[in-house]
Amino acid sequence: MRQILVGVAAIATSVAATFAHSAEIAPGDVRIEDMAVKSSLSGVRGNPEEGAKILANRGLGNCLACHAVKALSDEQFHGDVAPALDGAADRWTVDELRAIVVDAKQVFSDETMMPGFYSLKVGINVRKDLVGKTILTAQQVEDVVAYLATLKE
Ligand code: HEC
Repeated sequence: MRQILVGVAAIATSVAATFAHSAEIAPGDVRIEDMAVKSSLSGVRGNPEEGAKILANRGLGNCLACHAVKALSDEQFHGDVAPALDGAADRWTVDELRAIVVDAKQVFSDETMMPGFYSLKVGINVRKDLVGKTILTAQQVEDVVAYLATLKE
């Protein structure tokens, strides 16, 4: 009996994983309309605590290289080439924040220094192993957006 239950649980897990995957929007299919991406990229609610880690992680978001965030003042070396993100949630809706993280070029301008974190147009001469990959995964974008949504003043 126990083995049957374990088997059922394993099937349920793999079905859940299939659904999670099928709900994901591929980078080339994301539509930015009215400066907004109106649905979750992963279909799974973002986790703001994970998002904060991604903002500070030099190999992932590395957002703090350019932006300061008061709530993350424990982290060292915040950049100042871009506006501080404090109050970002007062200035932008969640769907607009998602669009900014997905592809800032489509929201601001082609000249923005901000990378497109869920875009395949990352530039020319991309390292071969990075071709076809985005800087962040769909779920990491959702986590970052969930964190940005907490930044109210
Ligand atoms: C290389 C520098 C750079 C990096 C890295 C960067 N940004 Fe930006 N970001 C900018 C600049 C510059 C702007 C201002 C828009 C413009 O003029 O280009 C901006 C604008 C924004 C805005 C709108 C600002 C506001 O509050 O009104 C948000 C939100 C934002 N960035 C979030 C992020 C997040 C989240 C990350 C990391 C996942 C990130 N940025 C990484 C340079 C950067």
